[in-house]
Amino acid sequence: MRILKREVKANQRSVALIAEMIHTATLVHDDVIDDANSRRGKVTVNQIWGERKAILAGDFILSTASLVLARIGNTTVLSLITQVIEDLVRGEFLQLGSKENENERFSHYLEKTFKKTASLIAHSCKAVSVLGCPDPKVHEIAYLYGKNLGIAFQLVDDVLDFTSCSEQLGKPASADLKLGIATGPVLFACQQFPEINAMIMRRFTYPGDVQRAQEFVLQSGGIQQTNYLAQRYCHEAVKEISKLRPSPERDALMQLAEIVLSRDK
Ligand code: FPP
Ligand code: MG
Repeated sequence: MRILKREVKANQRSVALIAEMIHTATLVHDDVIDDANSRRGKVTVNQIWGERKAILAGDFILSTASLVLARIGNTTVLSLITQVIEDLVRGEFLQLGSKENENERFSHYLEKTFKKTASLIAHSCKAVSVLGCPDPKVHEIAYLYGKNLGIAFQLVDDVLDFTSCSEQLGKPASADLKLGIATGPVLFACQQFPEINAMIMRRFTYPGDVQRAQEFVLQSGGIQQTNYLAQRYCHEAVKEISKLRPSPERDALMQLAEIVLSRDK
């Protein structure tokens, strides 16, 4: 019995390891796509070794994660984590496109946010619960906790891109507009300042677009509205996890939701 418990724990740790490795691999690739020069306060892989080696390094991390995944030997866990990889790539493709219709824009943004960020957290949480307990209700709670927490995390990330600086973040700040990406704060600001619409459609490519859009965002309630939306997602995450029986682990997961909202880097 004890050996079995130890094995479950070891496999759950492997899922955490795999999630971290997938995350790292995507960031190494992402820094190539974004042509970023810093990450976590250090010079990026692409800056030091060039794009070709950075892509291969990301691939290598991903392939090592796949080996660890295969060693767990659980087909449910395998398909959950494989889904993450598909979502990550689809999320990046969604980010390359923009919707003409204003009403579709926000759902497109939230779908992209789920795929590029929340899917990893949602499916990893679910995978850990699948390994630890047979109850599908618990799996669903774990999934919804991760999904809501993940969306909130990315919404806060999108706010920090406007409100923080590169030194604080350890990565380029004010990057999204320069990359042509309209995130929550801009989409909310657009409801107040329709002039932003045309800029979104041309992906902020005209001279002065980035700065004007930035000013509109800061004058509007876009930052506050995005923060408020993140709070709502965190609230949902906490509501889900509250359905589990009390434990120190459950407390830690609840605390994590607060950390996601209060982080400044
Ligand atoms: C960071 O976004 C990027 C992601 C969360 C996902 C990137 C995914 C890929 C490049 C797809 C394929 C990769 C693999 C290995 C499956 P961001 O640029 O908004 O965040 P940042 O400000 O931290 O750079
Ligand atoms: Mg990036």
